[in-house]
Amino acid sequence: MFDLSLEMLRVVEDAAIASARTMGMGDADAADRAAVESMRRCLDTVGIDGTIVIGEGERDEAPMLFIGEKVGSRNHGNAIAVDIAVDPLEGTNLCATGGAGAITVLAASEKGGLLHAPDCYMEKIIVGPAAKGAVDLEAPVKHNLKAVARRLQRGVDDLVVVVLDRPRHQQLIADIREAGARIRLISDGDLSAGIAAAVAGTGVHAVMGSGGAPEGVLTAAALRCLNGEILGRLIVKDDAQKERMQAMGISDPKRIYATPDLAPGRNLVFAACGVTDGNLLRGVRFSGDGVLTQAVVMTSTTPRVRFIDTTHLENKPDVKVRFR
Ligand code: FBP
Repeated sequence: MFDLSLEMLRVVEDAAIASARTMGMGDADAADRAAVESMRRCLDTVGIDGTIVIGEGERDEAPMLFIGEKVGSRNHGNAIAVDIAVDPLEGTNLCATGGAGAITVLAASEKGGLLHAPDCYMEKIIVGPAAKGAVDLEAPVKHNLKAVARRLQRGVDDLVVVVLDRPRHQQLIADIREAGARIRLISDGDLSAGIAAAVAGTGVHAVMGSGGAPEGVLTAAALRCLNGEILGRLIVKDDAQKERMQAMGISDPKRIYATPDLAPGRNLVFAACGVTDGNLLRGVRFSGDGVLTQAVVMTSTTPRVRFIDTTHLENKPDVKVRFR
């Protein structure tokens, strides 16, 4: 029987293998292109009538699956209509330098189940299940951190907040420091950090600051399955972008979106695969007998979070399978 989550697993695994081949080559564009081309090819073998509703690549003019692009082998008479949010390679620079935490990612849902928006920036605050409902995007940083600490039954000084290391976050970093929380500055990858905030034991209690909107929507799809919370507000660059947003159905560009607004779908599938080793997922391993990948697949209808180790075996008679 057709299982969308298994199909999406296959798509992120293949993209991870393709981009991992470029690891450390210092060519972020090549890494991104490998992931994008693999995803497009692989998605076109899935029996869906798919539409990319939000995707990463416009902001930095990188190779991308275009917003509005149709994917899937939709000639199948019974193809289901699916909306897709995608970041073929989250952490292109990480992959290009062999740094930790590059992943391939997508989310799928029934039509209308994922926010349709341009690839712009988004202001975000992300917390796990315990702190759900305690934060407010417009509240002072200190107020939010106190609220998270209270919910987690600890002091603010016991919190770790992940922030993208960018000049635009100078004030935010100063405010977090003044509030007394600890900070983990990351060079890239606020999507993985957002997922980590909703998984106990990762040592991440919140993510704050602005990052990509596609990453925000993808985080929301994962958090719907993990019971975490993201609050996000699109950052409008100029009038042209505002008009484009309106054409996509966003009447109030200043709106604060909660998790179910960013990913309202009933049948959500979130899939990510490690490219380089990270906190959540191991990266791709190549051997003479095949390729090992580690992925996570989450589904909302049947609430499941699956970590999946796959061995993609070479087709040869003396092939050996290795335990991870
Ligand atoms: P890509 O590797 O997909 O380009 O994204 C990496 C990333 O760090 C995201 O995690 C984050 O949301 C975004 O870029 C931040 O954008 P910028 O680097 O422009 O600050």
